[in-house]
Amino acid sequence: MFDARYSTRTHVCGQLRPEHVGDEVVLAGWVHRRRDHGGLIFVDLRDRSGVVQCTFSPEAGATFVTAEQVRGEWVLEVKGSVRHRPEGTVNTNGPTGGVEVSADSLRVLNTSATPPFEIEAGISTDEITRLRWRYVDIRRPEVFAALQLRDRVTQRFRRSLERRGFIEVETPILTKSTPEGARDFLVPSRLRPGEFYALPQSPQLFKQLLMVGGIERYYQIARCFRDEDLRADRQPEFTQVDIEMSFVTYEDVLGMMEEVMHEVMAEAGFDLPLPLPRLTYAEAMDAYGSDRPDTSFEMKLTDVGGVFASSEFKVFAGALASGGTIKGIVARDGAGDWPRSRMDALNEAAVEAGAKGLAWVQFTSAGEVRSPVAKFFSDTEMSALRSAFEAGPGDAVMMVADARAVANEVLGALRLRLADELGLREPGFHTLWVVDFPMFTWDSDEKRWDPSHHPFTRPFDEHVDLLEDDPGAVRSYSYDLVMNGNEIGGGTLRIHSEELQRRVLGVLGIGREDADEKFGFLLEALSMGAPPHGGIALGLDRLVMLLAGAGSIRDVIAFPKTSSGADPMTGAPDEVDPRQLRELHLRID
Ligand code: AMO
Ligand code: AMP
Repeated sequence: MFDARYSTRTHVCGQLRPEHVGDEVVLAGWVHRRRDHGGLIFVDLRDRSGVVQCTFSPEAGATFVTAEQVRGEWVLEVKGSVRHRPEGTVNTNGPTGGVEVSADSLRVLNTSATPPFEIEAGISTDEITRLRWRYVDIRRPEVFAALQLRDRVTQRFRRSLERRGFIEVETPILTKSTPEGARDFLVPSRLRPGEFYALPQSPQLFKQLLMVGGIERYYQIARCFRDEDLRADRQPEFTQVDIEMSFVTYEDVLGMMEEVMHEVMAEAGFDLPLPLPRLTYAEAMDAYGSDRPDTSFEMKLTDVGGVFASSEFKVFAGALASGGTIKGIVARDGAGDWPRSRMDALNEAAVEAGAKGLAWVQFTSAGEVRSPVAKFFSDTEMSALRSAFEAGPGDAVMMVADARAVANEVLGALRLRLADELGLREPGFHTLWVVDFPMFTWDSDEKRWDPSHHPFTRPFDEHVDLLEDDPGAVRSYSYDLVMNGNEIGGGTLRIHSEELQRRVLGVLGIGREDADEKFGFLLEALSMGAPPHGGIALGLDRLVMLLAGAGSIRDVIAFPKTSSGADPMTGAPDEVDPRQLRELHLRID
């Protein structure tokens, strides 16, 4: 509740209670609803704090006449006195339901066109329409509540970090490319024809330079820009809580982040039990088929390569012979009785996700076995299969035989689909660290190594010797924070030696000259007394989305873009004046 000072009001609508009866009040807000009741006019007046009923009687003369004219979403100032609602008209729905304001005067501050949709929670209006009139949408309680939660979370981050000695430093928006794996948004320079600024994909390089500058503990609520394909959890501009620390170990960063997260979650009304569980990247892939495992339900992947070591089934034998694996999951809760069509749909989903097929075995509740592949299994294999998955009547086992990475990925996706279909997710915020990512991942299309996080990540000390000869075996000091299957943050310890940074860039195919051109300023800084440092960035939008129980980060951003990167309200992106183009030395192809 905010106080009504610094305005023409004495009170806010949502604050009035029986204890205010007899008070003379001045309220201001929007006409939520107006009703005519045999000579009396009722106006539900709404401001951001809530709604209160105002009554206008014919005795009020001109005021009554004005009240007859007002329509939905007009903006009013109402003066009157608070009184109890008459017996039998007490409205128990809202917190102000016991009282009403008997109005003696009314000022129309503004009229309003008919709003494009109801100012109510849970309307079914499509999102494009809501975004087209976002300022009206923001009047709806759920949108306001999301923005308010976002504010509280942001303020809590600020307080928690400040208390730990972090200082907020702003870094440039017009800058040079910072590689985080997406495309850059470019801004042409008028003063330097043919040259461009890039908008930062993150403040990564600047925060490292701040460490070289001796800032030691930095944070920033930082806007980041990435030109990538959009999804429910991705926007072209989004906000990070960006953090960097000097003279730290891995444990220091994780420990600090856990404490701060605990405080932030508490601010939102949730308990985050500490310490957070950790899985290595390898463990997460193995058990969940994902580097951002949704641990709100079990259904872990089980390796049954051993069960089928001497299988007659060609598909299984072939996968093992070529160094692959056989892994599977078990769906319970009656999946053993699902009709064939449903199993075929899962098979199709598996193929779409990259598998050659899905070998499934249903154990019906009547005790039958249904499966297109069980005929290839011996009795021993069948009973070993049952016990490996602890499968009983009503359960269905689904297996993929393939290269380990493919089997993991397919089953990881299938697992999420089954959780949706079976409603398996437990409520709460299932949070963990995924740590020790490989330093590089092989891009088989481009035939080159890419950084798993970014090129400034520090390899394990004991793996530095492998950099040139076996890049795939090098792991890094890296960590992602995962909540209910969402990557809400990620970070690493950084390379602080120029020589090591050059070697890592070399593995990525960035030679000496290239490195000097792209990252010369960083390399130079690393040669001037760079302290050991590391940090992390949290996706603020994603975190608030989860805390708000929203389905998309668009719900927790005041003015988001649609999935095609457009803003239906302003019309951005838009064509520009030919003169502007000329000034920028640009021609549209
Ligand atoms: P990373 O690229 O993992 O790391 O980003 C950190 C977090 O930002 C969020 N995020 C996004 N949120 C919304 N829309 C997007 N398009 C989007 N992209 C990323 C995610 C992610 O976990 N500089 C490093 C951090 C570091 O090493 O300190 C970085 O940017 O929640
Ligand atoms: P096939 O012998 O190719 O007709 O396959 C028989 C069954 O095995 C079908 O149900 C396929 O979906 C399934 N299948 C085929 N390839 C694989 C694989 N690599 N892993 C798991 N199941 C498979």
